[in-house]
Amino acid sequence: MSLKPLSITDNSQTEEDKKLQERVKASGAIPEHIAIIMDGNGRWAQKKGNIRLFGHKAGVESVRDITESCAQLGVGYLTLYAFSTENWSRPSSEINGLMKLLVQTLRNEAERLNRNDIKLVTIGQTNRLPGKCQEQLQEVIDLTKDNQRMQLCLALSYSGRWDIKEAVKSIAREVQNGNIQPDEIDDERISSFLSTARIPDPDLIIRTSGEYRISNFLLWQLAYSELYITETYWPDFRRDELYQAIFSFQKRDRRYGKVKNGYNKSLSTSVINQITS
Ligand code: IPE
Ligand code: IPE
Ligand code: MG
Repeated sequence: MSLKPLSITDNSQTEEDKKLQERVKASGAIPEHIAIIMDGNGRWAQKKGNIRLFGHKAGVESVRDITESCAQLGVGYLTLYAFSTENWSRPSSEINGLMKLLVQTLRNEAERLNRNDIKLVTIGQTNRLPGKCQEQLQEVIDLTKDNQRMQLCLALSYSGRWDIKEAVKSIAREVQNGNIQPDEIDDERISSFLSTARIPDPDLIIRTSGEYRISNFLLWQLAYSELYITETYWPDFRRDELYQAIFSFQKRDRRYGKVKNGYNKSLSTSVINQITS
């Protein structure tokens, strides 16, 4: 199959979409950090009788649409799970195609990302990626490093267990060198040693393609993220459904293990005794 460059399409936003975004913003808080497990590219392509790589290529259009709509809505951080540690076990032809697509997409989208004031960063073992990918990534990271509107984080050769393992190793070294005491290892300290150290935990995690699992994504960071799972395959996931996900998020009651403010405040000892006797 040919992998002709993806064209940079019109950046203008329709009036209808602007109105929809106003509704999303007016209906509640916009998540500061959205993380997405972009799944279902292969099945999307196979359903159409095409090879899996077509699905990955079509998925790039969704990446662009979701990235730009998140930036327009005022999302601060968008983290996209693009390639997991376990994905290295796929056939080499698929991996090569994915890596080629990554280089091509970075090359084609760099200017547009920059114009949209979006800063690109990565998490994961990017040193395992082919040299060309690393170079192209670095180029876009350098180009966009001062951008302020939104941070787009690509998780590449990433896994949550790898992230935690590396943090544990670094903390162990600090303890060994006498820089920190074991008792000083708390949640904040662990978070500060993860690859997402300067990024707040995700408020909302979206998984496409109807799979109800985390697949080794941000294991530590997702502790209290709200989940939104959709049957839609990633190449069909566009801004309208993102808005649905955010509407759903805005209706959630994030309790963090506590009870709602004021509830049971004045439960007397006698009532407790009655119930527990
Ligand atoms: C997600 O789509 C993209 C990557 C994991 C790179 P898949 O390639 O997993 O597609 P399905 O889940 O097999 O349909
Ligand atoms: C998760 O999708 C990884 C990415 C989206 C990059 P997978 O397709 O690899 O996950 P499983 O195999 O369904 O758990
Ligand atoms: Mg999959």
